[in-house]
Amino acid sequence: MSSDLHTVLCERLGCRYPIVQTAMGWVADARLTAATCNAGGFGFFAGATAEPGDVENQLLAIKAKTDRPFGVNFHMFQPNADEVIDAVIRHKVRAVSYGRGPDAKTIKRLKDAGVICMPTVGAVKHAIKAIELGADIVTVQGGEGGGHTGAVPTTILLPQVLDAVKVPVVAAGGIFDGRGLAAALAYGAAGIAMGTRFLMTSDSPVPRSALDRYISTKDPTAIRITTAVDGLPQRFIENDEIRRLEGMSLPARLGMSVNYAREWGKQAGLGPVGMAKLGWKALSSDGGSFAQMVMAPNLPTLVQRGVVNGDADNGLLPGGQAAAVIDRLESCEELIGRIMREAGERLAALAALSRPVTSN
Ligand SMILES: Cc1cc2nc3c(=O)[nH]c(=O)nc-3n(C[C@H](O)[C@H](O)[C@H](O)COP(=O)(O)O)c2cc1C
Repeated sequence: MSSDLHTVLCERLGCRYPIVQTAMGWVADARLTAATCNAGGFGFFAGATAEPGDVENQLLAIKAKTDRPFGVNFHMFQPNADEVIDAVIRHKVRAVSYGRGPDAKTIKRLKDAGVICMPTVGAVKHAIKAIELGADIVTVQGGEGGGHTGAVPTTILLPQVLDAVKVPVVAAGGIFDGRGLAAALAYGAAGIAMGTRFLMTSDSPVPRSALDRYISTKDPTAIRITTAVDGLPQRFIENDEIRRLEGMSLPARLGMSVNYAREWGKQAGLGPVGMAKLGWKALSSDGGSFAQMVMAPNLPTLVQRGVVNGDADNGLLPGGQAAAVIDRLESCEELIGRIMREAGERLAALAALSRPVTSN
């Protein structure tokens, strides 16, 4: 049985199904984003890791592959944040997602241009703050999720946020199938958002050597949170590189960051002054610690080694615990079709349970 399950999320985002493919640095490229949209979901392009000067090309590449609406993710502290925001407005992109936040002025600018603002949050207080700043929809990511993540599981965070806010809420973190969609809708969410599940599709750009590691990881506790990479809690598949980083002293890790920072600064076209300015922006924008700011450059180099070069031992593989239950790569079309079918079946089975009570 299949049904559209048309929710307010579909109305606002202009997609057929209430299924969002979240942004993932170096993973949610033009192809994956367009494949999601063509299959009836809503894809977010990973604008936060788009090369400076290349954002326009990437948006044109998405538009060449799909005529459906799509979204773009960005961070205010990325060197080319203004380039991304300008391109989003110029291309009339349907929605933006973000984590560590743009200020109210930037959000107003986006909203005035008709762009839906849809941040991802990991705590109730962040959901409330994001809405005060102008968010139209919030995605809540429970701790099971991949990438930077919190400590509260989706089953607790989702109802907490639903009780606290009036805007549509999208559930994320640990969702991978139609049961997850049916459950999220039953909680009162307007839809689901998934990262790891879309990373593990045949439309994903991640090399097969790395995908094989995601698929062969069967123990959810082996996809664990560490702060050893950039000082913030982030979930990765445990591998040699994670164990090596965790075994290093803090000064050694900071020393390594300096080297990676130089490499990354070159890539981003920033000199020492530009790097210092960016560091200050990151430090002052969200109350991050000095160690976090200094360690941040570890992330791009090591994650690219994992998900771009496919080095599953010496690179990093960010992922959610859902990877442990995903055993095959489907296309976005197959995945979204299956999720809709499964959700329809679950919801029909639940409806069949509620029979009128007769008194005798
Ligand atoms: C490889 C990877 C990279 C990610 N990169 C980003 C990012 O650049 N920006 C962002 O807001 N979230 C990022 N995330 C988090 C996802 O957008 C999403 O919120 C999360 O994956 C949802 O949980 P799930 O993996 O259980 O579906 C990333 C997640 C993964 C797995």
